[in-house]
Amino acid sequence: MLVHITENFEEMSKLAAQIVAELVRKKPDCVLGFATGSTPLGLYKELIRMHHKEGLDFSKVTTFNLDEYVGLPPEHNQSYHYFMWENLFNHINVDRRFVHIPMGMAKDIDAFCEWYEEKIQKAGGIDLQILGIGANGHIAFNEPGSSLGSRTRIKTLTGTTREANARFFQTPDEVPRYALTMGVGTIMDAKEILLLANGESKAEAIAATCEGPITAMWPATIVQMHRLATVIVDKAAASKLKMKY
Ligand code: PGA
Repeated sequence: MLVHITENFEEMSKLAAQIVAELVRKKPDCVLGFATGSTPLGLYKELIRMHHKEGLDFSKVTTFNLDEYVGLPPEHNQSYHYFMWENLFNHINVDRRFVHIPMGMAKDIDAFCEWYEEKIQKAGGIDLQILGIGANGHIAFNEPGSSLGSRTRIKTLTGTTREANARFFQTPDEVPRYALTMGVGTIMDAKEILLLANGESKAEAIAATCEGPITAMWPATIVQMHRLATVIVDKAAASKLKMKY
């Protein structure tokens, strides 16, 4: 595991964007795994800048998103579909046909999850998966206790995650209770993982992820087993690390 500690959020985002851009230039038809949340927003901004100013070309790139709320239609302003189009896809030349985001409105959820896994495989697997991390160590919506071998499936959101996301909804009751999420095993199948974290609220989760024992109670700790994982954190998120990096 390669750990980079950056001065701040901007530096974290730029370093992550360089890694993504390098792959897109080297392999224009690569498969990228995208994440939502506040953490990758700076990375997406930088990719948009690179597209406009440096001609970074996404026309052949295939994308798979980690997760989506169950029951929110794609046009809902808190859905992850909306988030991705608003914050990235509408501003780069990605081909709509190559974009994949779990369908929270799928009628047959199990069949959809199976289809999503197959689709990733048929695309040749994910070359680079971008990840944020929850303060409780979740990756995507794989909450503490999730099987470290899990695949794409429906998950119940924990109270802490629903509370963390409540700020985006009018009332706490509107926060969805379920989500579709790639499993920990699905994420670990990516050829390369890029995990980002900023802010002090993530410091404990980052210390567990980089230096703690591997446990399903901190799902992100499994990243220690990945052959090609890079963790980029700002100083605040790195503040509980004991080793020197
Ligand atoms: P955040 O969420 O980027 O909004 O902090 C990350 C996560 O919960 O996975």
